[in-house]
Amino acid sequence: MINWDERPATTRRYLMCPPWHFGVTYAINPWMRPDQPTDTAAAIRQWARLRDTYLALGHDVRIIEPVAGLPDMVYAANGAMVVGGTVLGARFRYPQRTAEAGAYLDWFRRSGYQHVREAEYVNEGEGDILFTGRTLLAGYGFRSDEAAAQEIGRVFGLPVVSLRLVDPRYYHLDTALCVLDSSTAMYYPAAFDDAGRVALAGLFDELIEAKDEDAEVLGLNAVSDGRHVVLPAQAQGLAGQLRQRGFEPIEADMSELLKGGGGPKCCTLELRD
Ligand code: ARG
Repeated sequence: MINWDERPATTRRYLMCPPWHFGVTYAINPWMRPDQPTDTAAAIRQWARLRDTYLALGHDVRIIEPVAGLPDMVYAANGAMVVGGTVLGARFRYPQRTAEAGAYLDWFRRSGYQHVREAEYVNEGEGDILFTGRTLLAGYGFRSDEAAAQEIGRVFGLPVVSLRLVDPRYYHLDTALCVLDSSTAMYYPAAFDDAGRVALAGLFDELIEAKDEDAEVLGLNAVSDGRHVVLPAQAQGLAGQLRQRGFEPIEADMSELLKGGGGPKCCTLELRD
């Protein structure tokens, strides 16, 4: 018998951006194929189901209005990093996404956030920065600058552990690592170098290793509230591993948004107010 109380859920607040203008019109990661068709209506349906899943779990969802011409704005995780009410804005690597940073900063200022900082170094928000509850993890190698780690630590007043990403398919930290709770994470070992794997082993008591086939459907791009883990529906093996450890996997079909290189977590920015 699984004792669910061992994995207590806590209520979260998320920011999401509806994919009204979604499409794959350029390629800035290996998943994006501008020559292949996308279905914006299907993307909107999948996104709405993800939002409804969060609401059904008791989470609060805030919405930022999408901007025409910014098809990747649906990946709200990249819009900023928020801890303790402090907001560090994003600074994007590629010109196609540059304008998203301002749209997200405006939303935070309009929404009454008092400590909103613009970034000096390239950082792609929660795509590359994860929070364990004590420590910030900063991914670099493809998108965020390695030097952003110092800025992140300074802005939030928290220790930062840098993790180098080595496989271009896992270009953002949140495609290769998911913090399930303060002592548990799941990850894809081959996306990190030796130093990264050692660092992760030191940071978490329990580490679930994703198999190739689950990583390859972006199964690690998941959102945990400490008990429920919303993950791509195709990541069946990983769902089983989570169930065995006492988590409750919840499947989300994100096949359209996967064409842009994202899953549930990419579409979700946690607001730690
Ligand atoms: N097409 C987007 C990009 O390449 C996908 C972003 C996915 N977001 C994430 N948090 N991993 O920038």
